[in-house]
Amino acid sequence: MPKPIPFIKPEFPQIEEVAKDLELIYNNNYYSNNGPIYYKFINAMESYLGQGLHVVALNNATTAMMLVMKACFKSDKKYVALPSFTFPAGPLATQWCGYVPLFFDIDKNTLQPSQASFKQIYRKYGKDMAGILLINEYGIGNDQIDEWESLSKDLDIPLIIDSAPGIGSTYPDGKLLGARGSCEIFSMHATKPFGIGEGGLITTKDKGLAESIESLKNFGFDDHKLADKEGLNAKITELDCAIGLRILKNYETILRKRRNVYASYERLLINKRVRFIPFADKASIQFATILVAADERSKILRNLKDNKIEARTYYAPPLHYQPLFKDSPRGDLKNTEEISKQVISLPVHNDMATETIEFICRVVEEAMHG
Ligand SMILES: Cc1ncc(COP(=O)(O)O)c(C=O)c1O
Repeated sequence: MPKPIPFIKPEFPQIEEVAKDLELIYNNNYYSNNGPIYYKFINAMESYLGQGLHVVALNNATTAMMLVMKACFKSDKKYVALPSFTFPAGPLATQWCGYVPLFFDIDKNTLQPSQASFKQIYRKYGKDMAGILLINEYGIGNDQIDEWESLSKDLDIPLIIDSAPGIGSTYPDGKLLGARGSCEIFSMHATKPFGIGEGGLITTKDKGLAESIESLKNFGFDDHKLADKEGLNAKITELDCAIGLRILKNYETILRKRRNVYASYERLLINKRVRFIPFADKASIQFATILVAADERSKILRNLKDNKIEARTYYAPPLHYQPLFKDSPRGDLKNTEEISKQVISLPVHNDMATETIEFICRVVEEAMHG
């Protein structure tokens, strides 16, 4: 019987290295509240991402989105426009900030948020829109990011971008994610390619915005340690930052390995009925998403399960089918409905043997021919 293949296999720094970091933290006697390792980490991330970016690190991407919405969106408006085809963190942050999620569709080819669909909901809800939460789906850089920025400017609606798994992904122009919209938000959750356990990043060209978020994540304190805005505690610990520094040191290798795994899937799954997502090869590759015919998907998922291969169906069901958001307003979500019946997300690990990828591909193909 084959060994189970997990969907995700986090790879942490060696325990001896983490022990050294802990020793340093003990010696510093500084565990949180932007200690010395915090600044070392954000400086290192700023150098890595380049583009004149300011980086704020926090406890996770969901609270990061809440704080960004607080700082960037129009508080006198009601709706936050976002695609229904994503993870619930975005609409949850939306509701925590007192806004109503307003769903629009994705593009059928790229699976990225559709401008045509956005324009449709804008006609009805535009004057009440507080902001746009764009998603770089699966951490893939949106090929229409210039157009989204222009649209946001022309309509005077702030644009923020959830790039959660996309640390190290590039836009089609070759530039690293992080510099678009008012800011981009990344997750460093253990399941992400840049996984440290729990953690989030905000990246922005706007120094003032970075400073506001720094304050918001620390109870909204001003320079006199008085709460003057509605912040919360979203600080990251020194240990998490130390782990982040270790991951960053090795990150080019991690990205190369993950992209090689993805390239093997593309090479081996040659069945014409399997489709890959445009520009996905330029992403950080959290997992490998394929699209298959809706009426073949359950057969493939069953065969994967029978062979102890853990696969998922991100993002199905889409948000507008999830209990909390079932009554949220929406545009026509035809593509979201269709695509969410076709997606299968296959496992990607840093160290995945070619035979393992071959085996997974065989299991997928076998179900399609059976
Ligand atoms: C697209 C997207 N946004 C946000 C999040 C939330 O990230 P975090 O777990 O760091 O809050 C996730 C988590 O998986 C995600 O996939």
